[in-house]
Amino acid sequence: MTPDEIRNKAEEVREENKAVKHHVCVCMAAGCVSAGSDKVKVALDERATQEDDCCVKSVGCLGLCSAGPLVSVESDGVLYQKVEPKHADKIIDSLGKKPIKELQCDLESPFFKAQMKIVLENSGRIDPETIEDYLAVGGYETLIDVVTNWEPFEVVDEITKSGLRGRGGGGYPTGLKWGTVAKAEGPEKYIVCNADEGDPGAFMDRCILESDPHRVIEGMTLACFAVGATKGYVYIRAEYPLAIERLRNAIRQAKKMDVLGNNILGAPFNFDIEIRLGAGAFVCGEETALIASIEGSRGNPKPRPPYPAEKGVFGKPTLINNVETYANIVPILREGSEWYSSLGTESSKGTKVFALAGQIQNTGLIEVPMGISLREIVFDIGGGVPNGGKCKAVLTGGPSGGCIPESLLDIPVDYESLKELGSMMGSGGMIVMDESSNMVDVAQFFMEFCMSESCGKCVPCRVGTVQMHNLLQRISAGEATVDDLDLLMDLCELTRNTSLCGLGQSAPNPILSTLRFFRDEYTAVLKPSARTTVE
Ligand SMILES: Cc1cc2nc3c(=O)[nH]c(=O)nc-3n(C[C@H](O)[C@H](O)[C@H](O)COP(=O)(O)O)c2cc1C
Ligand code: SF4
Ligand code: FES
Repeated sequence: MTPDEIRNKAEEVREENKAVKHHVCVCMAAGCVSAGSDKVKVALDERATQEDDCCVKSVGCLGLCSAGPLVSVESDGVLYQKVEPKHADKIIDSLGKKPIKELQCDLESPFFKAQMKIVLENSGRIDPETIEDYLAVGGYETLIDVVTNWEPFEVVDEITKSGLRGRGGGGYPTGLKWGTVAKAEGPEKYIVCNADEGDPGAFMDRCILESDPHRVIEGMTLACFAVGATKGYVYIRAEYPLAIERLRNAIRQAKKMDVLGNNILGAPFNFDIEIRLGAGAFVCGEETALIASIEGSRGNPKPRPPYPAEKGVFGKPTLINNVETYANIVPILREGSEWYSSLGTESSKGTKVFALAGQIQNTGLIEVPMGISLREIVFDIGGGVPNGGKCKAVLTGGPSGGCIPESLLDIPVDYESLKELGSMMGSGGMIVMDESSNMVDVAQFFMEFCMSESCGKCVPCRVGTVQMHNLLQRISAGEATVDDLDLLMDLCELTRNTSLCGLGQSAPNPILSTLRFFRDEYTAVLKPSARTTVE
């Protein structure tokens, strides 16, 4: 299709949508489907066939996953929670009239009001399975503009000026990485989207792909245009069947509309995307291991340099970014780098998507401006700990992160502040712990994870994680002395400083942060004879 044909199609869909008075949108992302939203949709569909002014639509995640199945009626400005098939008649009967009070979510609550949706702007609004719905909200309009009017270096410049940093955990400046790949010599270059998402408690990338797959495809295609690549891979966790299915479907649709494939939009510009299923190990999310896995080898990390930007997939220059990083590209190029860099803090621009989990009232997917405090996230947006419980700590950064105590929750969410407290932004998993959590157990849980996920290639991580886990077990069992605590600290330092990849380098973080802020929980369970020697 030509750009004009795509624009006409988008206008046609907008007109069709306008002709329907009420769109009843059912969340069909994995969280709500597992709570039965598919059955709710069937019931609503059955009833809606008797009406001529409404249609029932599947949409992506609406955010408040713990209250699912969720159903929204935009025309009435209402969102219904915990909907069951038996509510279908009532919902359809209430359209344009008084909302059903007992099912209604409070859209004025901080959960909705304190968020800023950029990456998730289409999530919960469009049907992720139809490209037409994406076109109707301006989808692929940015690609048309860029391919028609921009030079590749202008795209790289704009991303650099935006201040966007990679959302996969490390926070590396995206524009800098794109610039390096763009400058790399050679006819073959690759684009990789890292959708491995192996952190326990993280589900941001899954939700983005389930809710708005075309946004990621458009971001990758723009990246391809900017750096001069010809082929792309999405390396996606195999345990995400719905996200895989929707991505596959979206790739097929995009090719059919000529926004992907050969001669994109009639221009001499080719880009194809292949899906590669993750090999099921956390370490395969590490970029060099991921590249090895794409090439068909065992997913073991390699020393860097050379970095993937110089020598990546099949030895060719490769741009590797996270799902959320790609999902930021369209709004940046559409609204401009000045707009984007005005959001967030000096060093951390834009917004961040977090998966709220653990002992928190509103479990779900949120997007907030960088710089918001952790306290606002946990208590205002998250609604605090359920049943009047007390928040003890928040873990950001998953197994590579750290536990931040309740007393320090006023810190702003940005890359540097979290690092100063021994944690990290990570990819966006945020686990809230209440007073019942034992911090030695928390450290042990994450060390057990790192121990079993260590690929074993380098000694410090292979042996260090096992020894640290053994020591934590001894501490928990009340068999350790203060000397063991010192040994644990030494092992943390050693493993951090000498491991080959990020897994080993950051595995000690949960121990170090719990020792820093909750040391008394360790010393309280040391052997009685040793306790007297502890300061
Ligand atoms: C053990 C380990 C696991 C990782 N897992 C992921 C992951 O699942 N998704 C991701 O985007 N990045 C992950 N990363 C970071 C990647 O190596 C890489 O930095 C990232 O994909 C780059 O994208 P970005 O610049 O957009 O953040 C992981 C790193 C390590 C050390
Ligand atoms: S640090 Fe751990 S995961 Fe990384 S290469 Fe070494 S053994 Fe493998
Ligand atoms: S999965 Fe339905 S609201 Fe998140």
